[in-house]
Amino acid sequence: MTKLAMFYLYIKPAVFLILLFSSLSCLADKGKVLYTEKCAICHGHEGSGGVGIPLGLEAFLEQTPDEYLRRTIRVGRPGRIMPPFYRLSDHDIDAIIGYIRSWKKTTVPQWDATPVKADARIGKQLFDKHCITCHGESGYGGKGTGKTFSRPRDLPITPPSLNNQGFLNSASDQMLKNIIIQGRKETPMPAASQFNLTDDDVDNLVSYIRSFQQTMVTGEQILSESSVLVYKSPYTFNETIENIKRAVIAKDYILIRDQALDHGFVPVKDESKTHTMVYFCNYDIIYNALAIDPRVGMFLPCRITVVEQNGEVQAMSINPKRLSQLFNNDELDVACDRMHDTYSSILKEATR
Ligand code: HEC
Ligand code: HEC
Repeated sequence: MTKLAMFYLYIKPAVFLILLFSSLSCLADKGKVLYTEKCAICHGHEGSGGVGIPLGLEAFLEQTPDEYLRRTIRVGRPGRIMPPFYRLSDHDIDAIIGYIRSWKKTTVPQWDATPVKADARIGKQLFDKHCITCHGESGYGGKGTGKTFSRPRDLPITPPSLNNQGFLNSASDQMLKNIIIQGRKETPMPAASQFNLTDDDVDNLVSYIRSFQQTMVTGEQILSESSVLVYKSPYTFNETIENIKRAVIAKDYILIRDQALDHGFVPVKDESKTHTMVYFCNYDIIYNALAIDPRVGMFLPCRITVVEQNGEVQAMSINPKRLSQLFNNDELDVACDRMHDTYSSILKEATR
């Protein structure tokens, strides 16, 4: 045999196979790395569960088409702790799904988008009778679940929110139907037979859950909110600071102090005369926000910064709306909307 023939017969295929296997195992490794980095903190090592529901259960993997996982990872659960991963590439997401699938050998259901048409009103009655105790009023999710890192310890598996737009945009009617009929083994989620539900009952329940769906706001749109509020001031640096203090008090806030940016780092006489922060607070709002999510503490007390640069004075603050989007918690949204209105009205008042 010539050397060339040997190359084509043995060596080239061998190299090809080695490359093929190493790229496949690379993909699996990549999924593992991404999962460990981005998901394990909530869903546990190999999907054992935690703040997020266990993804490694056979019953879960048998009921969820890849398309459901793909959509869920992409859009998350807006307003709940499950974040949207819209910056991951399709390739990354497939790698994560490949890794999740590697935990258990199960059949993977086909994606079937056939809609279920039934009576949502009857569905509501059934839901209120059988499901509300766990999934909450209108499918909002069990109280205190899926919202922050702290959750009731006596709930090993939290009943997820069924009226969440991320969920509704990810799940097909056929998938909902299967889950309700089968329940989910090894979790508190019971099968329909335990409630003596007929096929029609199940269809009505699916229609009721589907009735919560609205047009969804995507992660990209969410982050379009600017992260700071900036107002140009027609007054001098010192006048602007005094205006802000007055506006803070007029809004029933407690003025804590104002200090130069470098206060404490340099002797008082050398402190910045062009960069000052005004601190203030309102105990009501602070207690409320902290009760919803303790991480808000990083951004308290409230502060507004006044800066003079090239003869121009600006007053600015963080944008609380952007803050609540970072925390992805719709209960916090209400508090943050209030803070946003306060900040902008103080800034407006002080610079008009
Ligand atoms: C005893 C509490 C309990 C009851 C009652 C209950 N569920 Fe569940 N349900 C759960 C839990 C817990 C899960 C999450 C299971 C898991 O971790 O995979 C779940 C999951 C689900 C899911 C899948 C959600 C998702 O994010 O994957 C659907 C759909 C669902 N339930 C519908 C219903 C309906 C409809 C009823 C009433 C007929 C009902 N459930 C009754 C506890 C319950
Ligand atoms: C900060 C915590 C957190 C992180 C990080 C997180 N999740 Fe979740 N995830 C949750 C919670 C909580 C739920 C349940 C949804 C609810 O509460 O309504 C969930 C739900 C899900 C579901 C739907 C489960 C079901 O019952 O149908 C999937 C799939 C999922 N997550 C996958 C992932 C993947 C993959 C990653 C990483 C790329 C990830 N999650 C990262 C908290 C998290």
